[in-house]
Amino acid sequence: ELKAVVFDLDGVLADTAVLHRAAWQQLAAEIDAPLDEATAERMKGVDRMGSLEILLEHAPRRYGDAEKAELAARKNARYAELIEHLDPNNLLPGARAAVESVRHAGLKTALASASRNAPRLIERLGIADLFDYVVDASHITHSKPDPEIYLAAAAGLGLAPADCLGVEDAAAGIASIHAAGMAAVGIGRADALAEADVLLPNIAAFDIDRIRTKSGPPAR
Ligand code: G6P
Ligand code: MG
Repeated sequence: ELKAVVFDLDGVLADTAVLHRAAWQQLAAEIDAPLDEATAERMKGVDRMGSLEILLEHAPRRYGDAEKAELAARKNARYAELIEHLDPNNLLPGARAAVESVRHAGLKTALASASRNAPRLIERLGIADLFDYVVDASHITHSKPDPEIYLAAAAGLGLAPADCLGVEDAAAGIASIHAAGMAAVGIGRADALAEADVLLPNIAAFDIDRIRTKSGPPAR
């Protein structure tokens, strides 16, 4: 029985995927690493160091751990600066309504963002009070596609994963949701999210009543 919906943040509720991308793109240019669409897509949903490792696959030279830490910090300083300019207008259309509709339906809500900037971001966006539980990304050791973050969300809500539904815009996120034993709603394009149980073009199309009747209890 569906009892909760666990939302990803970047690219699902907020248009921050483009800000992460811009910050990575600037770093990529500085170290002469090509960053094409397919590589950028793979970096979505993956944690900071995991994303950096993907970027460095195509870098012209190898980097040591201390250098990697510096590169990640450089990218994050820029991203952190970018999100300070955000306000509730930067929520994606329909994002607040989607989370509120879940609450009004009597279900619980959680946030499962791999971003260590998530607490600051939901404050800037004015949605921090909409979640019954927010996973602290700094306590997660295995990045999406590992199930750890979605399992932590279910545990934080006090629910079985099978009673939760996850919502994601990245392939790594859909894989994480499924590995946790939840059904997955994909937000975005079919080519990137082929594994999703339900695919929606954007969060404005999220209709909790439709999902409840259509999917019934999560299939997984
Ligand atoms: C989210 C984004 C990724 C980002 C990751 C880590 O999952 O989709 O693009 O790399 O968070 O974010 P952070 O803010 O901790 O660097
Ligand atoms: Mg995302």
